Amino acid sequence: MTSPQWQRRHLLSLQDLAPWEYEIILQTTASFVEVLSRPTPKVPTLQGRVVALLFFESSTRTRNSFELAAKRLSADTLNFSPGTSALNKGETILDTAKTLLAMNTNLMVIRHQYSGVPHQIAQECDRLGTGVGVINAGDGQHEHPTQALLDLFTLCSQNHAKPPSLASLRGCKIAIVGDIRHSRVARSNIYSLRAAGAEVHLAGPPTLVTKEWQALGVQVHWDLAPALQSAHFVMALRLQTERMEQHFLPSLREYHREYGLTRERLSLCQPGVKILHPGPANRGVELTSDVMDDPELSLVSQQVSNGVAVRMAVLYLLSRAKLTGS
Ligand code: NCD
Repeated sequence: MTSPQWQRRHLLSLQDLAPWEYEIILQTTASFVEVLSRPTPKVPTLQGRVVALLFFESSTRTRNSFELAAKRLSADTLNFSPGTSALNKGETILDTAKTLLAMNTNLMVIRHQYSGVPHQIAQECDRLGTGVGVINAGDGQHEHPTQALLDLFTLCSQNHAKPPSLASLRGCKIAIVGDIRHSRVARSNIYSLRAAGAEVHLAGPPTLVTKEWQALGVQVHWDLAPALQSAHFVMALRLQTERMEQHFLPSLREYHREYGLTRERLSLCQPGVKILHPGPANRGVELTSDVMDDPELSLVSQQVSNGVAVRMAVLYLLSRAKLTGS
């Protein structure tokens, strides 16, 4: 039997990604991790291609990570920021996208504060028959597929299987703690971790995680202890105060008292538990500095490094789908 080939031209959501597609991403990422370890960490794979980075919302690591990934693949990059663009002159988002298309853009990486904008641009690219691939780099409270993929790669790399595979997470207990309500990272992670067969537990105050999330096959806790009990991995999420349109929390101090990750609380987890955080982290709120900076406990810097290789894999796979005309 021949193994299936990557077909997608866009990466907008992880909701319907099949296990074999995750495996292709994990394997391709592993090969780019090897490229990045070379003295000259660059390959000519996307030479002559244009990758446009459209970040309508602020970002440090995701934007830089995509830009570096594109450059490591030898693509040319176009950077778009709303503050310095013609959006200030009344141009619509679709017209901005069309301007970039007219400059022969091959791949567009889009972050927007409203859910669905990358989908809309992808639909327009398809309607115009452009063959351009669109990547969702975080849309509102909806999804952040490449963050979940880099988290997945980081988790699957922990048991040193070569190449990392979904199988290593089957039956693992993973707790996701914090502001689930406003988090696109949580939703994308739930899709990928459930596809891997992991046991996912969400914990946070009832205002920030409701029982409805259980429909996605996860367990919801309003107390931290049962979520942490025997967990193999714990992912802390930032309180997204910029998306909170009402008062969801009495105070950050109160939040930390109930849900902050401390060394003492983590003793409930499996010995050797590892902590993840997508960043930016608020030290002393989601987790203590002592936990975040402990290399025995924290996978935060591995997440950032793996982010470049995962995004190289995604740019590469989507650009190939375009070449084969799918
Ligand atoms: C996340 C995001 O922007 O959704 N960060 C990221 O991409 N590294 C999470 C967050 O902002 O808290």
